[in-house]
Amino acid sequence: MAFFRLPIAAEEPPGLRGKGFVLRTPRLEDFDAWAALREASRDFLKPWEPVWPSDDLTKPAFRRRLKRYAREIEDDSAYPFFLFREADGALLGGLTLGMVRRGVSQAATLGYWMGQQHAGAGAMTTGVRLACSYAFETLRLRRIEAACVPYNIASTRVLEKVGFQREGYARQYLCIDGLWQDHLLFALLRAEFAADTPSP
Ligand SMILES: CC(C)(COP(=O)(O)OP(=O)(O)OC[C@H]1O[C@@H](n2cnc3c(N)ncnc32)[C@H](O)[C@@H]1OP(=O)(O)O)[C@@H](O)C(=O)NCCC(=O)NCCS
Repeated sequence: MAFFRLPIAAEEPPGLRGKGFVLRTPRLEDFDAWAALREASRDFLKPWEPVWPSDDLTKPAFRRRLKRYAREIEDDSAYPFFLFREADGALLGGLTLGMVRRGVSQAATLGYWMGQQHAGAGAMTTGVRLACSYAFETLRLRRIEAACVPYNIASTRVLEKVGFQREGYARQYLCIDGLWQDHLLFALLRAEFAADTPSP
């Protein structure tokens, strides 16, 4: 895996690349590709995500999203990334290391989505590995948590492949697709990632 500095903002997290994929902070120039991919994947993503606001795919909403992302990065509270194919720069999906807790926690929560046309090719497994490398090696977190509804087989597989361990079951944990749904809870520790997972 290689780190490279993006030229546009000193405070922006470094881009990350590995195995033909690149993770970097979302930018305004990503709007067209992002909106098209989300629209084309709406039915695929809807069962697994919070309800989308009605203006979600508009440019003003995307600008607000980017402002929120910048604030969160500045506050060290969340690190959003888009996932691209390195060969042609195609946007494939997104990941967020969110709810960063410092102090005695040193933990974050990972979420992710893939455009429907790009799913099933191993991209998100690499994306999650890259995000975990960043979380453990650069942010120096100790623990990454993730949760998914029990019937989300693809998401569970991604977590298992990266080495996350199932730790529990949380009732009515998140409001997904308009319903408060039970979730499986997973976590990965820095020591496990370093010991068990090859670099992306
Ligand atoms: C979950 C998601 C991000 C995975 O992305 P991806 O790029 O397809 O993931 P990968 O290709 O790296 O791995 C997917 C794994 O799930 C497996 N899988 C996918 N659908 C499956 C199914 N219905 N039954 C069994 N296995 C399934 C794939 O075979 C693969 O495992 P393998 O490598 O052992 O064969 C993507 O499916 C997605 O965006 N889903 C909708 C949104 C979502 O679920 N977000 C996460 C919420 S917690």
